[in-house]
Amino acid sequence: MAEPAITLDRITRRFGDRAAVDDVSLSLAEGRILALLGPSGGGKTTLLRLIAGLEAPDAGTLSIAGRPVAGPGLWMPVEQRGVALVFQDLALFPHMTALQNVAFGLKGATSDRRARALAWLDRVGLADLAHRHPHALSGGEQQRVALARALAPEPRVVLFDEPFSALDAHLRQSVRDDVARLLRDSGASAVIVTHDAQEAMGMVDALAILEGGRLIQMDTPQAVYDHPITATAARLLGPVNLLPGQAEGGAVETPFGRVASAQEGPVQIAVRPERLHLAQAGLAGHVAGCAFAGDCWIATVETTAGPLRVRVSGPTQGQVHLVAEPGAVRVLPG
Ligand SMILES: Nc1ncnc2c1ncn2[C@@H]1O[C@H](COP(=O)(O)OP(=O)(O)OP(=O)(O)O)[C@@H](O)[C@H]1O
Ligand SMILES: [Mg+2]
Repeated sequence: MAEPAITLDRITRRFGDRAAVDDVSLSLAEGRILALLGPSGGGKTTLLRLIAGLEAPDAGTLSIAGRPVAGPGLWMPVEQRGVALVFQDLALFPHMTALQNVAFGLKGATSDRRARALAWLDRVGLADLAHRHPHALSGGEQQRVALARALAPEPRVVLFDEPFSALDAHLRQSVRDDVARLLRDSGASAVIVTHDAQEAMGMVDALAILEGGRLIQMDTPQAVYDHPITATAARLLGPVNLLPGQAEGGAVETPFGRVASAQEGPVQIAVRPERLHLAQAGLAGHVAGCAFAGDCWIATVETTAGPLRVRVSGPTQGQVHLVAEPGAVRVLPG
């Protein structure tokens, strides 16, 4: 078994008396892509900077490719970690051409460096623009140069902090697809911080949810989507109905029937809009509004349990009944 690409063992980073990253342990297998998601201030950038070596942990041990790089009495600087960084502000060197930017971090003879840099620009579709300076490149082109520059030295680990956030929707998708393809081809492991869960879900092997510096959940995108363990995790991945509930004797009475609960007392009942359906019988309500959402419509149904959003196939009005798919109703901490 190969060593994990990245291992965090009880990592904490404090600023003053607040822990920006609080006792986080996780492990990312080689060649895998992990997205960090979470509310603003949750500690995502700090965690990335710890892995990179731009921050030192106050406690815990961090290893890259099985080698401890930070911990008690231990510190390996950025340039020795074999890690590449792609941040939101791309910071291409303005006085260098695209080609020079990509060749900058490469070792070897000049002609060889140029050839490898050109090959990388070709891979991101920019061989024709190799001799342009950054000011003469569009935002998306600059992003691609930054990507080529980060990947050209063939790092084992690539860290991205919201690399797509400055791009429009169309470019975002193509740059994101490039990133996923190039990472898969190179076999590098990656950690990507993003606010866009939809974007992350399609390109990563795992999601880690950080809230208040703590790792709340780490699992495959589908597992976090279907089985979030907190309301925050549920909301981060997409629209969800949340209702208050009360757990007693190992179960909660929900509008869609009794659901087993591991916890007692106040809880939240979560169900996604696409897992509720209109039916002949079930929870009664009336449609208060119905909004067009491209490939579907989202009806807001007023029920005795509160308003519920339901995905429907066309404009809907009047009295309706709702049922939930089996297993769709989740019980989360209150
Ligand atoms: N250098 C610093 N000095 C003091 N506090 C800091 C420093 N860097 C980060 N923090 C604090 O640590 C917490 C986590 O910040 P961090 O930048 O990691 O959050 P984030 O999850 O990246 O947020 P966002 O989604 O807004 O980028 C915040 O409360 C922030 O104010
Ligand atoms: Mg951040």
